[in-house]
Amino acid sequence: MVEVVVTGGAGFIGSNFVHHALDAHADWRITTLDALTYAGRRENLADLDDHPRHRFVHGDITDAAVAGPLVKGAEIVVHFAAETHVDRSLESAGAFVQTDVFGTFVLLHAAREAPDLRCFVQVSTDEVYGSVAQGSSRETDELRPRNPYAASKAAADRLAYSYWATHGVPVVITRASNNYGPRQHPEKLIPLFVTNAIGQRPLPLYGDGLHVRDWLHVDDHCRAIDLLIERGSRGDAYNVGGGNTTTNLDLTHRILRALDRPASLIAPVADRPGHDRRYALDTAKLRALGWEPRTAFEAGLTATVDWYVRNEAWWRPITEGSPHRVYYERQYGRRERPASA
Ligand code: NAD
Ligand code: TYD
Repeated sequence: MVEVVVTGGAGFIGSNFVHHALDAHADWRITTLDALTYAGRRENLADLDDHPRHRFVHGDITDAAVAGPLVKGAEIVVHFAAETHVDRSLESAGAFVQTDVFGTFVLLHAAREAPDLRCFVQVSTDEVYGSVAQGSSRETDELRPRNPYAASKAAADRLAYSYWATHGVPVVITRASNNYGPRQHPEKLIPLFVTNAIGQRPLPLYGDGLHVRDWLHVDDHCRAIDLLIERGSRGDAYNVGGGNTTTNLDLTHRILRALDRPASLIAPVADRPGHDRRYALDTAKLRALGWEPRTAFEAGLTATVDWYVRNEAWWRPITEGSPHRVYYERQYGRRERPASA
């Protein structure tokens, strides 16, 4: 059996990856290591509780006593665990440095002493490039992260590279664009707007809504990671983008149409400080290995909206829970302003 460790596997992309990987690789035995922060949901993996090739370890990647032995016994590590929400990084950056940078260090340090390790996937992000006014980012471009989340991910990205360069840890780095799909925490744009629209609540669109993101279906990200474990050049970074660049305003209208809700639900609010205007990725390097996204944006978005409609029992306890309500009030209560302002 191939021993695989997935960090952050109770979160959005991690849980999709664990499900995907157990289906795709009959010879993989997966250990999920997750601290179950506000973003980690045990129920994301509940259907795997009796799975013979999966086990869940509740633990923190910054805890070398827990994470170290797991990494040292692994053939493959896929490292998703992170603090991930830009808005939260504006108010509490320390948690991002601790988990995203120090936590990655703990894993990489253990990876030096992992005799069977053949791949350590550092799941990075397109946000490390910073805002790109035109064209698309290539892997060789300078990293210019512009918020604490992006900066801590950039630090982890380069730390992983340094462990390859100096210690020969078999690192492969993915820099994916904005993922969407089932089980994404409702603090992020698509699930936030979908769940608010379901409840006829306002959709808090930042600034003029003309910021551009490239949307990637989570399944396509999972398939890219699979391919890179087998064929990615160690020490290299690979962009993973869906090729679906659109403005937040356009995306909002698509969500409203899918749910048959009126445009009057759009509620412009004060912009995010330092809000990156545009991300776009050149994915030629990954495509040269034979990958291409399979999920058409319109179909993927419709299916995702439908997932939230059908799985209210998944998101309602989160949105109605006290931590989220406190966060929501802090995040949005103070920035609401009239649409005409
Ligand atoms: P998420 O916030 O949904 O999940 C993060 C998971 O990590 C949670 O299960 C959480 O409990 C766990 N975690 C947090 N701190 C931990 C710690 N100290 N120890 C162990 N577990 C911990 O995040 P996501 O959207 O699934 O993102 C996963 C990874 O992909 C992150 O590294 C993120 O930077 C990267 N990424 C995300 C996107 C996106 O659009 N969501 C795009 C590109 C890259
Ligand atoms: P988000 O899902 O937070 O991802 P990221 O900032 O990592 O790209 O946000 C996606 C886009 O949506 C981003 O341009 C910010 C914008 N946005 C809003 O307009 N309103 C919101 O309430 C949120 C959460 C995001």
